[in-house]
Amino acid sequence: MCGIIGYIGKDQALPVLINGLRRMEYRGYDSAGVAVINDGTTAVTKRSGKIANLATALDTRPLTGHTGIGHTRWATHGAPTELNAHPHQAGHVTIVHNGIIENYVALKATLTAAGATFASDTDTEVLARLIESETKTHKSLEAAVLAALLQVEGTFGLVVLDDRHPDTVVAARRGSPLLLGLTPEATYIASDATAIIGYTDRVVYLDDDEIAVCRPGSYAVIDFEAKAKEHEEVEIKLELAAIEKSGYDHFLLKEIMEQPRTIADTLRGRLDLENGTSHLGGLNLPPDYYQTISRFLTVACGTAYYSGLLGKLFIERMTGLPVDVEVASEFRYRNPVVVTNTLGMVVSQSGETADTLASLREMKRRGISTLGLVNVVGSSVAREVDGGVYLHAGPEISVASTKAYTSQVLAQILVGLQIGRARSLSITEGKAIVQALQDLPAQVQSVLDQRDKIKAIAKKLAHLNSAMYLGRDTLFPVALEGALKLKECAYVHAEAYPAGELKHGPIALVDDNLLVVFLHPKTALYDKSQSSLEQIRARGGQLMIVGTEGDQSLTDFTDNVIYIPEANPYTLPLLANIPLQLFAYYVACERGTDVDQPRNLAKSVTVE
Ligand code: M6R
Repeated sequence: MCGIIGYIGKDQALPVLINGLRRMEYRGYDSAGVAVINDGTTAVTKRSGKIANLATALDTRPLTGHTGIGHTRWATHGAPTELNAHPHQAGHVTIVHNGIIENYVALKATLTAAGATFASDTDTEVLARLIESETKTHKSLEAAVLAALLQVEGTFGLVVLDDRHPDTVVAARRGSPLLLGLTPEATYIASDATAIIGYTDRVVYLDDDEIAVCRPGSYAVIDFEAKAKEHEEVEIKLELAAIEKSGYDHFLLKEIMEQPRTIADTLRGRLDLENGTSHLGGLNLPPDYYQTISRFLTVACGTAYYSGLLGKLFIERMTGLPVDVEVASEFRYRNPVVVTNTLGMVVSQSGETADTLASLREMKRRGISTLGLVNVVGSSVAREVDGGVYLHAGPEISVASTKAYTSQVLAQILVGLQIGRARSLSITEGKAIVQALQDLPAQVQSVLDQRDKIKAIAKKLAHLNSAMYLGRDTLFPVALEGALKLKECAYVHAEAYPAGELKHGPIALVDDNLLVVFLHPKTALYDKSQSSLEQIRARGGQLMIVGTEGDQSLTDFTDNVIYIPEANPYTLPLLANIPLQLFAYYVACERGTDVDQPRNLAKSVTVE
């Protein structure tokens, strides 16, 4: 979704802005722009489409100056045109904005009545004009910004320039992340830490309803009552290599291939084979609380939600407690029954998904303890939960989530293991799970080593425009996730069913134009699934099967068989998911889609 970068310091601002925007390309956007103050005027250049368009325009007419802001826009109000792109200007004020100004229609009417005119369709231009009008009665830029924001309903990550104050950049936050990067000579403002990696590792995360007044090498924060706020500076441990393709054609492939390492990173220091349990330092739950939990409630969106569906099956088995899993956008607006001693779990790669964050706040309002299973350190979810588990999967740049999904499932297994062992899970079973987790990186590697075979199968099947993914028990959530990956990456219509549901309707779709991805490794339900496979073959469905190494019978059904190693029931679904990730990637390449930034999608959905 939208990205913000700002700079005030001794260097030229433009290279920092363009570099920052490029680093945030992965978030998804449809236009981009920059503004730089020079000699008392702010010059703006913006373009629709990719940052490359903007960079080409700036090559011909570069902007010079030491204070500037940049933005990638993912259209909400108005089409993705150059006119609607940010920055937006109103007189001497120039702003970039993430989020949505919900009362912009009313504000626009008031400003129009006072003589203002507007060039774009955006809520952001209204905010720019509002701030500009407040500069007439307020001496400092921060006072004008504060006065304007007190009239605003909605969300904002906002950065403001004023021609008349070239030594100041004002930033403000409500519901849309912003951080400051600090060096002795400069202050950076960014919506995403990736934008400033390499410039500094010292950052301050702004909280909601805070305004930062940034100067070269210094900053001050005030709240919405204009009271000074102290902030802890934290060190971010991100390396440039983590946000580079490192020789891969796409981030998606890089992130799929690095899973043996990211799995090890998620598990590192958290497994206890001797006691068949896990040790999670950040849960912040007293051990006697484990005995009093009555149920779990997981909320998440998209892939994170599918990880929750799989996590549910594991946690229920390990703890003997029921787990409800809810799509966050639904949970936040209904009247869910939240019984006493429910433990809330919020699963999110970014930690900034608007619906997920709102659900977390709803859970807290209802007084239940909350855990965050989050990848991005310092994100809003991570900072608002009572405790949690960082995924440690490293930056996930490709819009389609792969390695984070795997780590989300692992984090849920770790939670289930720790709580399960404190309740009813036997040491024998606990040890078997720990051993399986320790074996997982090597097993995943063995599946990844078959990528050429998966590529060849993808080449054969990529022309099919519709797909059905089938699996039973823990493999059904994997089927859902596999279908989502194909939709997102390759723009192929795909749905998923529990294999046993085939005969209740979806079998009507099966013919030789339908791709059927059948998850059929050796599990307790293997024999039960066999008849579904027969039914698909009888109707000419184009099969791809994921099966267990050594199961030669599968080649009677199709040549398109991918084998995964035999595994413990807790790790088997994760192994079965790897071929689906690679398959979606190679089908996408074959169909020529924008693999890392699929159309219409954003990495982090920070608006409703
Ligand atoms: O950052 P989050 O995990 O909260 O994001 C949730 C979903 O938006 C995300 O998983 C989305 O479905 C991905 N595009 C999946 O690949």
